[in-house]
Amino acid sequence: MVKIAPSILSADFANLERDIRLVDEKGADYIHVDVMDGQFVPNITLGANIISAIRPVTDLVLDVHLMVVEPERFIEDFAKAGADIITVHAESTVHVHRAMQMIKATGKKAGVVINPGTPVSVIEPVLALADLVLIMTVNPGFGGQAFLPECLVKVEQLDKLRKEHGYTYEIEIDGGVDDKTAKSCVDAGADVLVAGSYVYNSPDVGERIQTLREVTK
Ligand code: DX5
Ligand code: ZN
Repeated sequence: MVKIAPSILSADFANLERDIRLVDEKGADYIHVDVMDGQFVPNITLGANIISAIRPVTDLVLDVHLMVVEPERFIEDFAKAGADIITVHAESTVHVHRAMQMIKATGKKAGVVINPGTPVSVIEPVLALADLVLIMTVNPGFGGQAFLPECLVKVEQLDKLRKEHGYTYEIEIDGGVDDKTAKSCVDAGADVLVAGSYVYNSPDVGERIQTLREVTK
């Protein structure tokens, strides 16, 4: 069954505890946390201190998506704060291999992510190291953007590569996931769906999570 990772980017930051508990009780699998530095992407969100604050609120996997320049500067901080998966952009550092080694050295799961304009070939050399590969289906920076279906071919490639080489990574999709796009993601080979605005911009988040499960069956 597909895993659902609500993105707290679309939660109410004044009621973050409530909004995390809400999706936890409604059967979410991961909590997706978007970290933006205003440089790698044109928006600023939150840092490791927020991870520390929300860690006691839930036992769910904290899936931390770093959209920051040179993420290796912060890996230790996020690991200590309680992240379970730390995902770095291939475009954000000239040392993505080293960054992933650093994540693994902390004992956490290492993820790698590529923007819509970046091909899978860029990350092929680090796929053996990856516990998670995240495919952006929007340009990162904001919630609520339109899904880019042309990115799904990369999910198919990654699914094929892991079968061919025996890689163990999960494939996650981030951006524009809703009741209309979720099925195409799972059909392409995705295991985890991030959903921000679709889940949180509703009075009934439970219904939204349930619908994502139904349409991907
Ligand atoms: C975008 C973030 C996403 C965002 C997705 O840069 O990485 O995780 O929260 O939001 P939706 O699901 O609304 O596209
Ligand atoms: Zn994200």
